[in-house]
Amino acid sequence: MLYLTLCVFIGLSASADVKPGDDCTTDGWGGTDNDDAKCEDGITNMKCRQGKCTCLDGSIWVESKAECLKTLGQDCNSANECAPGQGSCKNVGGRKQCCNWNDLNKECIDPEFVMEVVQNYVYDVNGELVKQIKKELQASYVYQAYASYFQRADVALMGVKKFFSAASLEERDHAQMLIDYVNLRGGHAEFGNIDLESACKAVLNHQNILDASNNTLMCICNFVAEEPEGQDIRTGCESDRSHWKNALMAFEDALVTERFVNSELLKIHKIADDAKDAHLSHILEHEFLDEQVSSINKLAQYVTRLRSFKGNYFLGEYIFDQNLSK
Ligand SMILES: [Fe+2]
Repeated sequence: MLYLTLCVFIGLSASADVKPGDDCTTDGWGGTDNDDAKCEDGITNMKCRQGKCTCLDGSIWVESKAECLKTLGQDCNSANECAPGQGSCKNVGGRKQCCNWNDLNKECIDPEFVMEVVQNYVYDVNGELVKQIKKELQASYVYQAYASYFQRADVALMGVKKFFSAASLEERDHAQMLIDYVNLRGGHAEFGNIDLESACKAVLNHQNILDASNNTLMCICNFVAEEPEGQDIRTGCESDRSHWKNALMAFEDALVTERFVNSELLKIHKIADDAKDAHLSHILEHEFLDEQVSSINKLAQYVTRLRSFKGNYFLGEYIFDQNLSK
């Protein structure tokens, strides 16, 4: 009984925290050199060789912790999960393995990266930047569509048109800044489809979490987007546009769009922090977040002003538009 209890205890302790390079020689409990069970951690395929837990790099056994992790990484478990602190599960070269922020595992670096440049820049960070490039381009596309809407002769608010044209170019600049940054770090920028319907739905879904009460959000987007028959971006938009408070609706949409983009930037900042990517944190703080907060504030001011025109909204909107034209 005592023997069994001891074996269970030893089995558990051997599988809990064993690391490459750990000693696996006889230690008084009856284990022996070449006892592979002592190196079994439930994730990697380590073996006991010459007294150390090691892993196989091609035909060479490596036993230092750094070398072993660099070579092998940690395999995901059968549920595609990683042990706490081991990063997230990625399919790297056909093998599911845990990619960690510490960048010890060279296989976690995308093979498309520029290896001579890339340093402390990992798979997931690159992926998040690529997603953000798309979000900036989507915002640019939304604003371009809105500029076109305000240029229509039956809307004719040229100051608002001017604002959205400039905003569209600014978002495109943001996308270019991120593309430049990915290349600066030796990463790999990838480009997918941009369409207005998806862009507006992403903003609307984000806003629904915050405030489901505004039933005119993204109605302009709904009106200008090309969409499959019967699949509106949103339902409930009044079809008679002669009553629409166009400028107010547009700036409310722009406000939630900027809040959406800002929340995504904050997520990347958190990921950069977790990855200890000091350079990316610096760039986000100095080149993106400051400007984003200012944009949100400015748009909130516009929305406040437009909402204040209660007695004669359309006269107020006209004066507001004239001011934006200057
Ligand atoms: Fe932006």
